[in-house]
Formats: sequence, C-alpha cells, structure tokens
Amino acid sequence: MKVFVEKNYEAMSQMAFSLFLKFVPEIKVLGLATGNSPVGFYKRITEAYKEGEISLKNVHTFNLDEYFGIDHGHPESYRTFMGNHLFSKVDIQENNIHFPESKGEPLAITENYNRQLDEIGHPDLQVLGIGQNGHIAFNEPGSPRHARTRVIRLTQSTIEVNNPPSKYAVTMGLEDILSSRRIILLASGRSKADAVSRMIGGPLGYTVPASYLQEHPETYAILDHEAASRLDIDTVEKRMKESVEFGNDSYYFDL
Ligand code: GLP
Repeated sequence: MKVFVEKNYEAMSQMAFSLFLKFVPEIKVLGLATGNSPVGFYKRITEAYKEGEISLKNVHTFNLDEYFGIDHGHPESYRTFMGNHLFSKVDIQENNIHFPESKGEPLAITENYNRQLDEIGHPDLQVLGIGQNGHIAFNEPGSPRHARTRVIRLTQSTIEVNNPPSKYAVTMGLEDILSSRRIILLASGRSKADAVSRMIGGPLGYTVPASYLQEHPETYAILDHEAASRLDIDTVEKRMKESVEFGNDSYYFDL
C-alpha cells in the first residue's frame, strides 16, 4: 500500500486528483464512492472537465453501494448524491452509469449488478472512503473476503454515524473491490484515525474489512494529518519499503 499523508482535506483532494490525471488515459471503468471524503476530489474533476482538460465520455462508472428500499430519486440516496456532485457536471453518458438498483428482489438485484461488473469489467480505478468502523463500501465488520454484491443490514455503529434513510443497503463485495486494478482510498479527520491505523498497521481480517487492502497490489491511501494521527509508527517502519518527505507538511511511504 502506498500511503500519502497531506496537510489537510484540500491537499488530500488535490493529491487524489493528481493521481487520477495520471491514470485517466487508462480508465475505461471507474469505480465511485459517496460520502464527504471524495467531494473535494470530484470538484476538481468537474473543474478539469470545464477547462477541457479531461473527458469521461467513454468511461463506464460503477458505484459501490446504495441504500436499499428507497427510490433512487430520494434526496438522501447515493444516486442523488452522485448526480449532484459529479454526473450532472461532466460528460459521463447516462447509459454508462451503473448503480445497484435500490428496490426489488434482492437476489435479482445483486445478480444483475454482478453480471454488469463481469461483462463490462471491474474498475481500472476504484475510489474508496472508509467508515469509522473500518468498513469499505458497506462491507461491515464480519464481511467475508470472497463476498460479491449483496444486500446487507447496516451495523448499529454505522446507523449512528450515517443516520441513513434505510437500515439496509446493496453493496459491492470485498471480492469486487479488490478486483479493481488500482484503488484510491481517501480519509480525512480524527474520526477516521482509528480505522485508518487498523487498515494500514493492523492484522488482516474481517473485523476491519479495509485491512484487506493490505494485500491489494496497487492501493493509494491518501490521508490528512488527522486521519493519520494514530498510525502505529513501529509497525509502519518495520514494513516500510520507501519513504519521502515533501514540503507543505506532506509525506509518502510505501509498505
Ligand atoms: C458510507 C459509505 C462508504 C463511505 C463512508 C464514509 O458508509 N457506504 O462508502 O466510505 O460512508 O463516508 P464519509 O466519507 O462521509 O466519511
């Protein structure tokens, strides 16, 4: 895992965008996440589109998850969030937007999404956030490594943090996420510090689903100082292959 620690949210978003620009010529399938963490990054993408620097016209997008049992048009749905922050502001084609259906028969919904992923391909780049309990997408603690898209019940801790419009969600599985070629994970703020330290330095296992990213070949974890504030330096140093300090209170290490 390549870890970038940046001075604040803005710098984190800028670093994610710089990596995105580097990878964009190779992105045919883009995996997207919701939440506050990627908002600044999406803003930079929309600005770059406006400036004519990039086009996403031929890109397929797959979103990680959606609340189950509400309409996609619901103001708190993840589909609405993506429309507001990205889809309405760039040239992604409506037909290329893939989202788990939010209503219907669970097995049919999950099979349909898995089929789309298999036919079109897993993301060349997957954007991720992390939950305070270490979840990625809605793979809550206890999620098996081999799981694919499925309907899950949110844990009590996620319900308290997210205040969701439904206690159920459809989520891509860890197997789907880990099949992405590259992953950019964004984490900012002190509330993420514990989950981040367990993701990077803790044992690999289902109690912290994000820890499985340790075995992914090309994950970029981009953190701000607060999210990085509980990293176990001894563990990190033991596993460190490379480390570089930049100006602006930024540093990078490769594990
Ligand atoms: C939700 C989403 C996750 C996201 C997490 C963190 O639980 N299902 O994909 O990573 O929230 O959100 P935020 O970035 O707002 O902290």
